[in-house]
Amino acid sequence: MSYFKVLGFDKEPFSTSPDPEFFYLSKEHEAALTNILIELRLKRGLCVTLGDIGTGKTTLSRKLIQELKERDDFIFHIILDPSFNNEQLFITSLIRNFDINIDSNASHAILDMREALEKFLFQKGVTENKTVTLIIDEAQKLNEASLEILRVLLNYETNKFKLLQLVLLGQLELHSKIVNIPNFLDRVSFKYTLNPFDFNETKEMIEFRIRQAGYKANMQLFSEDAIEEIYQYSRGYPRKIIMICHKALKYLILKNKFVVNGELLKEIIGEEIKSGWHRKDLLLQKNSY
Ligand SMILES: Nc1ncnc2c1ncn2[C@@H]1O[C@H](COP(=O)(O)OP(=O)(O)OP(=O)(O)O)[C@@H](O)[C@H]1O
Ligand SMILES: [Mg+2]
Repeated sequence: MSYFKVLGFDKEPFSTSPDPEFFYLSKEHEAALTNILIELRLKRGLCVTLGDIGTGKTTLSRKLIQELKERDDFIFHIILDPSFNNEQLFITSLIRNFDINIDSNASHAILDMREALEKFLFQKGVTENKTVTLIIDEAQKLNEASLEILRVLLNYETNKFKLLQLVLLGQLELHSKIVNIPNFLDRVSFKYTLNPFDFNETKEMIEFRIRQAGYKANMQLFSEDAIEEIYQYSRGYPRKIIMICHKALKYLILKNKFVVNGELLKEIIGEEIKSGWHRKDLLLQKNSY
């Protein structure tokens, strides 16, 4: 039997996958999500969300997709890794992923493909009144040529709105890349930096995930002092919270206990630090954008 079933869960509470079902709406995540949805609705073009490693960008993008799926006037595609070596590869991937009809036997000149893309955006956006959205995760991996393609795509517009909506999510290096291209920076209609959780959010997120995973007992699985230890250790970074909680639950079983307390956490964190695997240089500067 899996460890989480032993503890009374239906599902794994602290899986590291970006499952929107386990997405706790922190202040930061809610602000980002709501604003992105508003910008998309207004078809204003370009949203950029920055965040340090493990702050929840990919999870946020999954949540966004879940929201867009419920709206039938959206056509969207997500690129998980935009490491395209050249312009041709990037445009070809856009053509393929948006299912744009272009004679697949011929090898196409970039110009033809751009034209097909523009025609598609016009057809969907104006004739069919759809909102075509491209979401790019790991956007810090976009190279200059790819950013230039995106800039050109953002130029496709009617008098009233942009034909392509672009949502970029990336680590902090994305910031310097964009700042170095002023006519790209200038087009950002919504920018946001995801910060880690505060203490209360850390606590609420842990409780939320436990309940989502089907834990029904009235007993508090993580004591208040355990959560304080988790917060100090993780500094509110979601992935760090998840990892340490997962470890704590495994310890619980090993030690045949039922409540994660501060003492248990101290022991786990002590071992983690001793092992030399603990990252101390957390990068994020508040309001850095
Ligand atoms: N709002 C949230 N509620 C619950 N869990 C979250 C939340 N945000 C992030 N997590 C969890 O934290 C972990 C890391 O999140 P995610 O992978 O989205 O971070 P990231 O910013 O994309 O990281 P990276 O920079 O490494 O790509 C995941 O396990 C995810 O489930
Ligand atoms: Mg990610």
